[in-house]
This record gives sequence, structure tokens and C-alpha cells, in this order.
Amino acid sequence: MPDTPAIVTQDLGRVYKIRGPKRKDDPKQVIALEGVNLTIPRGELFGLLGPNGAGKTTLIKILTTLLLPTSGRAQVEGLDVASQPQEIRRRISMVSGGETSGYGLLTVEENLWLFARFYGLENKVARQRIDAMIQIMGLEEKRRTKISDLSTGLRQKMNFIRGFVSDPDVVFLDEPTLGLDVAAARQVRDFVLGWMRDHPDRTLLLTTHYMAEADEMCDRLAIIDQGKLLALDTPSNLKRRLRRETVYTLKVAPLGQRPVNQTDMVESVPGVHQAIVTELDGLTELSLILETDDALSGVLEHLHRRGSSLLALEKRVPTLEDVFIDLVGRRLDVDTSQRDGETPEAPL
Ligand SMILES: Nc1ncnc2c1ncn2[C@@H]1O[C@H](COP(=O)(O)OP(=O)(O)O)[C@@H](O)[C@H]1O
Ligand SMILES: [Mg+2]
Repeated sequence: MPDTPAIVTQDLGRVYKIRGPKRKDDPKQVIALEGVNLTIPRGELFGLLGPNGAGKTTLIKILTTLLLPTSGRAQVEGLDVASQPQEIRRRISMVSGGETSGYGLLTVEENLWLFARFYGLENKVARQRIDAMIQIMGLEEKRRTKISDLSTGLRQKMNFIRGFVSDPDVVFLDEPTLGLDVAAARQVRDFVLGWMRDHPDRTLLLTTHYMAEADEMCDRLAIIDQGKLLALDTPSNLKRRLRRETVYTLKVAPLGQRPVNQTDMVESVPGVHQAIVTELDGLTELSLILETDDALSGVLEHLHRRGSSLLALEKRVPTLEDVFIDLVGRRLDVDTSQRDGETPEAPL
């Protein structure tokens, strides 16, 4: 059925029951996903963008049949995650960016080969594919190195390749560039884009914290926060939404008094849609989304009254980050340290 979408969710929800010792004021459950409706056609590179705890990993785990939904339905390649998990698993792969799995005593190529054989690939096909991917990802010199002797970054790259070795119909990448250095992250993104170009009938869903990554890579993306989809469109359409509003960055310094902070209520100035305040080396940076340019004079007056002086002012074209701030009301902070609350990854 060529017209079947690669991924469909209907009113998908997931609630985690919290076990263990409970205090009276402890919530007994966490709503990780709520009413998620998503249709991703074949051939699309789709992104899920959201802060920590938004529900991205939960959604990926449901779609990869590692976790059951508690409400609603989800299908991958027309197959139901709850009743046809085995059929789905044969057609998909999943890589989690922070994950460093693999058999430590085996070398890079042995690990990949073993994995390919798990998927039932013919020896010759597996060898050729692994060779090509090792080369593209710049792991040539390390192919005979034991996994246990690799740096975390290289191990992550090996893991990433693993996700493509089986030639899956749908690939799920959970924060694929998390913690990678700039060059390695570039390689990962280029590999994904190249793979999608070479396999136009395949589908790839990735999650990310990184705005630029989502903007550059995704055909369409969903902004997710607190388990709910807040917007779903192409990156350029999402940015176009903000086109009629104007976005400013202001740098201000205190005039002998305390610096500007969030409690200064810049948001209460008429015509200010959103105001995000960030401290930077004793200076304060304000990111403002204004309904019209006219609101700016009110902001400057407000800051002056609060004892601050303006150092720099810049009018910007809206970025995806501004779209995010507009929808979620705060910045998408990059926090790579927080991986708690997650269940250990089960191998596919
Ligand atoms: N195994 C679990 N038990 C209880 N709560 C969980 C579990 N896994 C995730 N959560 C909670 O569900 C919410 C969504 O988490 P997650 O899907 O990991 O978000 P993300 O991947 O976007 O950071 C968070 O509030 C998280 O703490
Ligand atoms: Mg996650």
C-alpha cells in the first residue's frame, strides 16, 4: 500500500505510574503524552522539537514498540504498535544519541556486522554496507578498534551507523547529535540528509534540542511541550507565522542599580507579545517579540524608569527559536545532563 503513511497516531497518550515510596503530596502519575495526532507520509524527514521532559523519547519508544500507549493508537507502516510489534520491528531501527551500547570486546566492524546478522542480512551485503558507512562517517582508522577503547563520541558514531545497517523503512533517531562535537554532529547530519536523498521512499523521525538542526534538516517539524503538540508545519511556515510580528534583541546595562530581570515585567508593556530575559556577563539580553514596531518606545521608556541603559538594539528576522518562545513562552534550553526519568533502552 504505497499511500499508507509511515507513521500515524490518533489521540495518543501515555501516563507513567510512579511507583516506590510515596509522600502524601507526591503526584501518583506523570502525563508524558496527551492527545497526540500525527500523520507522517513516507519519504519525510520529520522532527520533534521540544525541551527536556516534553515527551519526545516517550513518543519514540511507543512508535518503536518499546512502550505501550495508555490511550489512543499508533501505527507504523500501517501496522499497529500494540498488536503487531514484531512486524514493525523488522521494518524499523532506532538510535538514541546518548546511548553507548555495543559489545565492548568486539571491534567497530565486528559490532556492526553482528548487528547486521541479527537483522538477517546476507554476509556480502552486510560487509559492503558497513564498509561504505564506516568510510562516510570517518571511522576507517578505528574499524579494528575494540568498542571499549573508543571515546564516547566515536562510540556514538558507531551506534548511529548501526541504525542504518539493516536498511530500515523507518528510522527513529532520538537526539542523534546529543553531546557530539561540532564536526561529528555535522557528519551525522550530512549522513542523514544523504541517506534520505538516496532512499526517497524511507522515512526518518528525529528528536532534537537544537533549533538550527531542526531548521536545516526537517521537511516538517512538530513543536512539543508537556506532552502536547503545539504546532506542526515546515520550518519556513512556522517562521512565516511570526513575520507580521517583529523580533528584537536588546542589550541593556544597569545604571548603578540591580540588573534588569524577569520580574521587571517588560511583558506588561503594551504591544509586547513575549519577553525573554537572559543574563550575560553582567549585561542583560532581552529577546522581544513585539506586535508592531511602535511598542519599542514603550519598552525603552520602561527600562529607563527601571534604571537601565540601552547598549545595543537589533531587529531580527524571526528564527525557529523565536517561534518556540512564542509558543512555549520560554527558551529551549540545552541541557544534556538531564537524562533521568528515562527507562533503560531495550535493544531492538
Ligand atoms: N519511566 C518513567 N517513569 C516515570 N516518568 C517518566 C518515565 N520516563 C519519562 N517520564 C516522564 O515523562 C515525561 C516525558 O519524558 P520524556 O519522554 O523522556 O521526554 P523528553 O524525551 O522530551 O525529554 C517527563 O516528565 C519524564 O520525567
Ligand atoms: Mg528524551
